[in-house]
Amino acid sequence: MSFIVDAEITHNRKVAEGCYNLTFRAPEITGSAQPGQFVHLRCGPTLDPLLRRPLGIQGVKREQELVQVLYQIVGKGTRLLTAFEPGGRVNVLGPLGRGFTLPAGARRAALIAGGLGIAPLCFLYEELAEQGIAVEVFHGVRSAGQVSAHDLIPDGRVLMASDDGSLGYHGSVVKMFEDHIGLETFDFFFATGPSPMLRALGKLAEQHNLPGQVSLEERMGCGIGACLCCNCRTKDKDEDGWRYSRVCADGPVFPVEEVVWP
Ligand SMILES: Cc1cc2nc3c(=O)[nH]c(=O)nc-3n(C[C@H](O)[C@H](O)[C@H](O)COP(=O)(O)OP(=O)(O)OC[C@H]3O[C@@H](n4cnc5c(N)ncnc54)[C@H](O)[C@@H]3O)c2cc1C
Ligand code: FES
Repeated sequence: MSFIVDAEITHNRKVAEGCYNLTFRAPEITGSAQPGQFVHLRCGPTLDPLLRRPLGIQGVKREQELVQVLYQIVGKGTRLLTAFEPGGRVNVLGPLGRGFTLPAGARRAALIAGGLGIAPLCFLYEELAEQGIAVEVFHGVRSAGQVSAHDLIPDGRVLMASDDGSLGYHGSVVKMFEDHIGLETFDFFFATGPSPMLRALGKLAEQHNLPGQVSLEERMGCGIGACLCCNCRTKDKDEDGWRYSRVCADGPVFPVEEVVWP
């Protein structure tokens, strides 16, 4: 079930250049939020911008009833979010979407993230660790100085990649993960990040027959499955081989083998 709440903001602080951590109190959301789900935020007190902005849930502290998100300033909406102050209110719709599901019997999982895609994987990491599943985190950033899984998951096994070689492996996170497929055996992978990264990972998964789930990002309107503006193509045996799915309501998480990559 989803709720609309005027949540009390407890923190909104800069954690890296252009990147902020927003925490708000919302017991309605902490009660049922699952890793991979997202919240849809109103970015300011006026009707401009009219549409809410979707952000993945980075974590919940159920006892304190707190929800945490991590956001990058991209345009008007996310820039407005930076003006929110502790003690104020943010209007939140959530939790939304279908999150990650753990396949039965999985013992060793890879989490693969590009950029701020790492945020929802922090929540998943906690759940997997609680279940005793061994997790290795692969995180790609553009360069050192950006938010890294080293900071967000300090007790985890983390491998970093950077486009310019200033942090960890020099190259894409998908290539770094590919180099590890032969060395380590993963039962399953979970991935979030920009579309080109997920598309490359989808091809790799197909070549190596790797089971996994990917969290897709599409521009959203309603966030609840009504406006059909967030469509992606997924495989379907019963129709012409594929059909449209709504990222907000049927996803954002999909089994990797079901996605028809553009
Ligand atoms: C399920 C989901 C989870 C996300 N989680 C995060 C997160 O944890 N942290 C984070 O920083 N960003 C996340 N994003 C991306 C974030 O929603 C966009 O960066 C944000 O909406 C940009 O809004 P803006 O007004 O600042 O930018 P503008 O470019 O001015 O936005 C214009 C319109 O485009 C949409 N839009 C722009 N970029 C994206 C995008 N990448 N994905 C979807 N819609 C977009 C906006 O919602 C808005 O409707 C997520 C997106 C989705 C779909
Ligand atoms: S955003 Fe409206 S259907 Fe997905």
